Amino acid sequence: MDMSTFADRRARLLETMGRGIAVIPTAPERLRSRDSHHPYRHDSYFYYLSGFSEPEACLVLVAGAAPRALLFCREKDAEREVWDGFRHGPAAAREAFGFDDAFPIGSLDERLAELLAEQPVLHYSLGHDADWDGRIVAALNRARAGARGGARAPAEIRDVRAALDEMRLIKDAQEIAAMRRAAAISCAAHRRAMRACAPGRFEYEIEAELLHEFRRAGAEGPAYAPIVAGGASACILHYVDNRRPLRDGELLLIDAGCELDSYAADITRTFPVNGKFSPAQRDVYELVLAAQQAAIAAVAPGRPWDAPHEAALRVLAQGMLDLKLLAGSVDGALESGAYRRFYMHRTGHWLGLDVHDAGEYKVDGAWRPLAPGMTLTVEPGCYIRAADDVPRALWDIGVRIEDNALVTPGGCEILTEAAPKSVAAIEALMAGGDA
Ligand code: GLY
Ligand code: MN
Ligand code: MN
Repeated sequence: MDMSTFADRRARLLETMGRGIAVIPTAPERLRSRDSHHPYRHDSYFYYLSGFSEPEACLVLVAGAAPRALLFCREKDAEREVWDGFRHGPAAAREAFGFDDAFPIGSLDERLAELLAEQPVLHYSLGHDADWDGRIVAALNRARAGARGGARAPAEIRDVRAALDEMRLIKDAQEIAAMRRAAAISCAAHRRAMRACAPGRFEYEIEAELLHEFRRAGAEGPAYAPIVAGGASACILHYVDNRRPLRDGELLLIDAGCELDSYAADITRTFPVNGKFSPAQRDVYELVLAAQQAAIAAVAPGRPWDAPHEAALRVLAQGMLDLKLLAGSVDGALESGAYRRFYMHRTGHWLGLDVHDAGEYKVDGAWRPLAPGMTLTVEPGCYIRAADDVPRALWDIGVRIEDNALVTPGGCEILTEAAPKSVAAIEALMAGGDA
């Protein structure tokens, strides 16, 4: 990663702030059990501005005529480094990451009170971490106490994430490059899973193929818990047990993507366990694919955020009528929301450092227009649970198809094309071809 990119982002945020001081801490470490921790993952906002991924760190930006970016981080500690590995320490971090100054994290509370004095605005995102909120309020109170000696504490607190959300919505070249690599690795993992799939194998075995491919290719790991859902489990949207055997004649839905250089891919493919779609499975699959194609066609600059969803809904509602899942008219199904029984989620979300990435979907009450550099998922589905009023052949068929799109000046580019999607491509790959 090019460190000047992070410095440029800090400079842009400082300019947007205009005045005041921003405090952006990274994520805390979380205990898993006794003295072992969950794998550490930095906070995405903090990382976006710093490129620094050690825990126990905080970024402080001071706006004004002479803007400054300060890092607070762990000190060098020869003994701890034997146990936990390398830590930069303030001096090396300042040098390597291009901060104006860096200090031990232990000095933050004291320095923060001093830094807050004479600042009109504190840019901080309250309510996300109670420990940090407590530290910040304590520092504010110390600055206020100091006000009796003539210094003034900030009179205003603004949510720094609001400005950062806007910045994070439009991906720069470095981010797009990382997302392309995350997408390529994740597509390879889906191909590997399709090849490995066969009746009698277990969902966790297929999950292991995905994880193997992620790590083999150098990704940090999965960007979220992989969903490997055979048969009826595909109708459970957040199924992550992944422990059932895969049966001949069922579909397998896999929703999995890796995190690479802190950026996520988020791909879903659905395919037959035995490599050949049954006529009923094919009907539902082709419907979801047509809905996805309609949605992708609606991803273009100037189109509102909701356009892909509306396009997918119309195709899905018509298909549900054709399949005798619903009765009446398309407009009737859309108006009454009857389609929600079989399609209960939205058609996408922003994608980036977080799987469900930062950014508002509405601006002043209206859907946000898409613009070049935005990245989003397009993921319609259809989930048919067994029920007396549903045609028997369609029971327990759950299909979702999810791709990652980059909005371009002329429309969009699908970053995840390399994961087979047409019936013919899936069946060819599973038959031993190299689709
Ligand atoms: N994998 C999470 C999602 O599709 O939104
Ligand atoms: Mn998604
Ligand atoms: Mn997904």
